Amino acid sequence: MLKDKTMIVDQETNATASSDALVVLAYDSTPPSGPALNLSSQTTQYLLDLQTRGELSLKTGKVTTLYSVPGVTSPILVVVGGGKPEKFGCSEAYRCAAAASKSLAAKKRNRVQFQFGDLQSDVSRAAIAGSMNGCHGQDILKADRSINPIERISWLSVNENDLRWATEVGQSMLLARELVNLPANLLYPESFAARAAVVAKDCGLELEVWDEMRLRKERCGSLLGVAQGSSKPPRLLILRYPGKKKCPPLALVGKGVTFDSGGLSLKPSDSMLTMKCDMAGAATVLATMQAIAKLQVDSPVVGLVGLVENMVSGNSFRLGDVLTARNGKTIEIHNTDAEGRLVLADVLDVALQENPSGIIDLATLTGACVVALGTDISGLMTNNAQLQSQLQQAAQQAGEEVWPLPMSEHFGEQVKGKIADLKNMGDGRWGGAITAAKFLEEFVGERPWVHIDIAGPAFYDSPKPFQDAGGTGCMIRSLVTLVEKL
Ligand code: BES
Ligand code: MN
Ligand code: ZN
Repeated sequence: MLKDKTMIVDQETNATASSDALVVLAYDSTPPSGPALNLSSQTTQYLLDLQTRGELSLKTGKVTTLYSVPGVTSPILVVVGGGKPEKFGCSEAYRCAAAASKSLAAKKRNRVQFQFGDLQSDVSRAAIAGSMNGCHGQDILKADRSINPIERISWLSVNENDLRWATEVGQSMLLARELVNLPANLLYPESFAARAAVVAKDCGLELEVWDEMRLRKERCGSLLGVAQGSSKPPRLLILRYPGKKKCPPLALVGKGVTFDSGGLSLKPSDSMLTMKCDMAGAATVLATMQAIAKLQVDSPVVGLVGLVENMVSGNSFRLGDVLTARNGKTIEIHNTDAEGRLVLADVLDVALQENPSGIIDLATLTGACVVALGTDISGLMTNNAQLQSQLQQAAQQAGEEVWPLPMSEHFGEQVKGKIADLKNMGDGRWGGAITAAKFLEEFVGERPWVHIDIAGPAFYDSPKPFQDAGGTGCMIRSLVTLVEKL
């Protein structure tokens, strides 16, 4: 499978003439401020003139490309607007650096330097990760790319720790995005598992792979029910990171539906087109495990992903079928397009076996969550207020948006079955993100558990100024931040 050569990200003390471009931040204050205004008096005068003439917008993420600027040794100066300095946080930093990086990536660049000034650690980390991700697009199978990865990115005035953290996390985001962007004919359960083996070997994770036979032996009837319509056999992966602390691990669980046709409850073409993205939860878990291992975090973590393809054939599971999950609960199928929860049901049960301190699952689970929260906010549903607030704090620190949805008991009534214990859908569309979570709750016992529905933020249908369309690598920064604080 194709893989970009890893980009070089390093740290330097001075701007050099040998770089293709210098990217500097400028805040929209009166007068304008920030590193762009501290280059040289000549340069400052030049930029202030531009601004007076209305040719330089310093609104958040606005990119202005300038050539042969007086006092700048690099042939190109990119000024990126930082907006109001008091509002400049992680999410702004990520987007500003990514927007500049994306704009430069229209051409091949050997070397670009970034100067965002002295920033708080978290903000600096977000900016570095942004610079790495802006210059990577979804056109990985094109001969001539429209977004060309910058070969070497050098950051001025960042510290060693932040650089190392951001490089590993940024690299993991690129991994998740690449996996999400690969089409379903190239990335399917077996090939995902093969790639995971390469990742695990490279960063020293222990990997256990359950094939179809093992899944049958383990009575994973819910996951197998979804998988049975596809000619591609399913897999379940367990990735273990022991850490240094002697304590129970946190479990990360990912939905890995490598293609979701909807099954016999077939999706219309428009909704099916992007359903290669339905393994984003699994990609997030693999990528987060990679970052955790590379950073040698203290706490133990175990990652589990369920990989299946939801297809239509003479072997497909049917509406009205009853599946028996690994934990013994029986499930009536009311809609074969509500397959993610069926896959997770068994993976969550396997996760319990690892005796985790808590479980966090990530899944592109429901369109209803996108209706509720839009495309930039992940839904959070839980049985445990403490794990919830730990995750919210980590997300806040990392500059990613999550929002809680209520787990009221009456939603649980909707997933009780008629002839079996459970049914895999609520009574209608309303509150669909929550009925899905209530279904999952049946498989975590009393264990502290947070479910994150990333159906909105995991995949952009259209490009943004700061990042191409396709996989986004969302939640990886938040999860690494969380694990480091345990
Ligand atoms: N994979 C989809 C959810 C999804 C929708 C992900 C949009 C990304 C973008 C999931 O398997 C699904 O089809 N859910 C159904 C559930 C319904 C049948 C109860 C949905 O959301 O419509
Ligand atoms: Mn579905
Ligand atoms: Zn799905």
